[in-house]
Amino acid sequence: MPALHRKKLIGVFDSGFGGISILRGIVKELPAYSYLYLGDTARVPYGNRSSEVVHEFTKQAVDFLFAKNCELVIVACNTASSDALHKIQQDYLPKYYPGKKVLGVLIPAAEEAVARTKNKRIGVIATEGTVRSSSFLRELMKIDRSVKIFQNPCPLLVPIVEAGEQNAKIVPVVLEQYLKPLKKRHIDTLILGCTHYEVFRNKIGKIVGPRVFLVSEEHVVPKKLKHYLMQHPEIEEKLQKKGTVRFFSTDLTEKFTSLGSKFFGRRIKAQKVSLQ
Ligand code: DGL
Repeated sequence: MPALHRKKLIGVFDSGFGGISILRGIVKELPAYSYLYLGDTARVPYGNRSSEVVHEFTKQAVDFLFAKNCELVIVACNTASSDALHKIQQDYLPKYYPGKKVLGVLIPAAEEAVARTKNKRIGVIATEGTVRSSSFLRELMKIDRSVKIFQNPCPLLVPIVEAGEQNAKIVPVVLEQYLKPLKKRHIDTLILGCTHYEVFRNKIGKIVGPRVFLVSEEHVVPKKLKHYLMQHPEIEEKLQKKGTVRFFSTDLTEKFTSLGSKFFGRRIKAQKVSLQ
């Protein structure tokens, strides 16, 4: 059947495994649709790359997912959402893919944080790229100019997750060091501003204590997507409803399959692809 007449898919993209936890949340909330996941595992981490390079990689990922018949792509990566999303939405889509949509993860997290904070002191932990871009600052201030925002980059966390070392003894020490400056600022809400950090949720919760609300994209993004699809029937009705999920990665190792299966909550099988 020509691609034009086939029902469309939802694409989910991350630099590595982290976005699989967002996909798990999305599939749980919206099980009827058909999904493609792409992890750029050959080039992860994105967090310490320049914004130009992250923009280029993100465009390649979007090209790949649209070529695979996606109608809507979720950039389930804060670094890529920070460095590339705006430019892709403003320039790239109108020129090359009019009518298609690319959504990110920053705005849902920012909206949730502002809704939850009582003392208006919000912490953000994220990659160096996300912190450098000030994207969370901008999104939070757009919603409420009176909030105080305290950010800390955590460059060691993504490599720890990608290495499958999230339970290593060193992890609580590293987390304590990254979270200490935020605790001192008396935040009552903390955005886990990198999809990879979801695996540290319990450990982070123990360090910051029960009075700090943890904003987890795995929980907020699926709800926002559901709402978005309700508001956009012209997109929703084009979507295939076969409840399938397929995985692609730019480097295929046993780790992708085993860690990916852990993140997704059931066994996954991925296919290796090239984006260049
Ligand atoms: N998981 C991504 C994020 O949410 C990026 C991690 C990385 O590649 O550095 O920011």
